[in-house]
Parts: sequence; structure tokens; C-alpha cells
Amino acid sequence: MNVSGKKALVIGGTSGIGLAASKQLAALGATVVAVSRNPDRAGEIPKGITLQACDVLDRAALGALFKAHAPFDILVGAATGGTRARGTFIDMDIEAYKASFAKLWGYSNILQLGVPHMSADGTIVLVSGSPARKSKPGQVAIASVGGAVEALVRAVAPEIVPRRLNVVAPGTIDTPMSSLKGAEREEAYRKQTAKNLIPRAGTADEVAQGILFVIQNDFVTGTTVDVDGGWLLS
Ligand SMILES: NC(=O)c1ccc[n+]([C@@H]2O[C@H](COP(=O)([O-])OP(=O)(O)OC[C@H]3O[C@@H](n4cnc5c(N)ncnc54)[C@H](OP(=O)(O)O)[C@@H]3O)[C@@H](O)[C@H]2O)c1
Repeated sequence: MNVSGKKALVIGGTSGIGLAASKQLAALGATVVAVSRNPDRAGEIPKGITLQACDVLDRAALGALFKAHAPFDILVGAATGGTRARGTFIDMDIEAYKASFAKLWGYSNILQLGVPHMSADGTIVLVSGSPARKSKPGQVAIASVGGAVEALVRAVAPEIVPRRLNVVAPGTIDTPMSSLKGAEREEAYRKQTAKNLIPRAGTADEVAQGILFVIQNDFVTGTTVDVDGGWLLS
């Protein structure tokens, strides 16, 4: 797809990976609506992007948003959706584990409510994460959710042809998702990535390049593109 002149909705498009994807799409001439619960936190936004408030878990509001922008061509789901349970599974609070699946329900809402409002050659991208296919101790919740997201994509892609649906799976990425600051932040990323083939945190722009690749390449659907610094081989 040549994104110039196309209309894109980026859910979770006001921070980190989603914001980087919004900016790359706008730089290539797409009209972008970047959506999140508190879009004012996005900071300065370049020409071509408008901000809109919506909670991905609010089906009525999300359905109305899609209807208002129909028809659109590009749909990106990058919203974290809620909290994550951490720690070893045996000791994990089961309610916190269940709550981690808010990301899956947000993505389910995006697909079910968004796809019917897309153009016939529309393309959709969701963001999972490397633990979906290689989990380290303490990552059971994000591994389970990411795995479910990837399975959802492989199951839904054949049902919505000719529209295309793909996943981008980031490794450790330096985004506002981490609230750590300064030396503490650097040390956390150093430790998390020390054994990766590329031992550093990736940038939101590097992941957005993966998102743009699956949007632009008309021969790619139902697949997962890893942007992970070699996490899967570490
Ligand atoms: N950073 C990493 O290391 C990493 C690694 C693997 C996978 N990922 C995945 O990549 C995606 C993007 O993460 P990120 O690092 O870019 O995080 P981020 O900087 O925290 O951005 C998350 C975005 O999601 C929005 N959001 C969260 N809950 C929402 C909801 N209920 N409804 C609507 N919007 C919502 C946030 O805005 P509001 O708060 O305003 O709603 C924000 O725009 C997530 O799915 C994350 O799980 C990230």
C-alpha cells in the first residue's frame, strides 16, 4: 500500500511505538487519527495527525469512533490496554493475571468493531511482544497475552481477506511504558538486553519501521515480524 493520501487510525497512537508509527505514517502523507484515553499527553504533534480520546475497552465509544471515521485504510492497535501481572506464575495473583488480558480484549474490540468500517484493501497491524514466543521467568502474563494476540491474528486473517492483518513483536523498547528515569532506567535496559544479540533497548522508531513494512508490503499477511534485537536467539 502506498500510504500517501490514505487514512489511518492508530489506537494507542499518542505515546511510544504507536506515536512513532503515527509520525512515520504522517511523514509519508497519510492522514492520521491518533487515539488514546488521554491524548493530550502526546506533546507536540506534527501536521497530518489529529488526536482523539477513546478507551479501547469502551466498545460503544470505540464503535462510534470507527463509524465517524469510516471508511479508513490503515488500522494500528498499539494500546497496552491496562496493567500487567509480573512475577512467577505459582505466586501470581490470579485476578492480576486475568486483568493482564485487557490488551487482548482491546485488540479484539479493535478488530471486531474496526474492520467492517475499512476499505476493501485495508490493512491492520497489532503489536504483541517477544515473550509470546520466548518467555523469561517472571513474564508469564505478557507471554500468555502476546501468544493469544498472535493466535488471534493468525485465526482472523483468513476470515477478512482481501484485507491484510499482521503482528509486529517488539523486544525491549525504550518508551514511556517504563517510568524509570536516568541511570536507573539505563541500568534496567542494560540488564534486560545484556544477552540479546544486539545488547541495547530498541527505539519506538525501529518498531514503527516494522509496522510500516507490513502496512506497505501488499504480499504480507497473517504473519509476525520481530523487531527484537535478537531476543528470540538469545
Ligand atoms: N515498550 C516495550 O518494551 C514493549 C515490548 C513489547 C511489546 N510492547 C507493546 O507495544 C505496545 C505499545 O507499547 P509502548 O511501549 O509504546 O507503550 P506506551 O508508550 O505506554 O504507549 C501505550 C499507548 O497505549 C495507550 N493506551 C493504553 N491503554 C489504553 C486504553 N485502554 N485505551 C486506549 N489507549 C490506551 C496509551 O495512552 P493513554 O494512557 O492516554 O490511554 C499510549 O498511547 C503495547 O501493546 C505494548 O504491550 C511494548
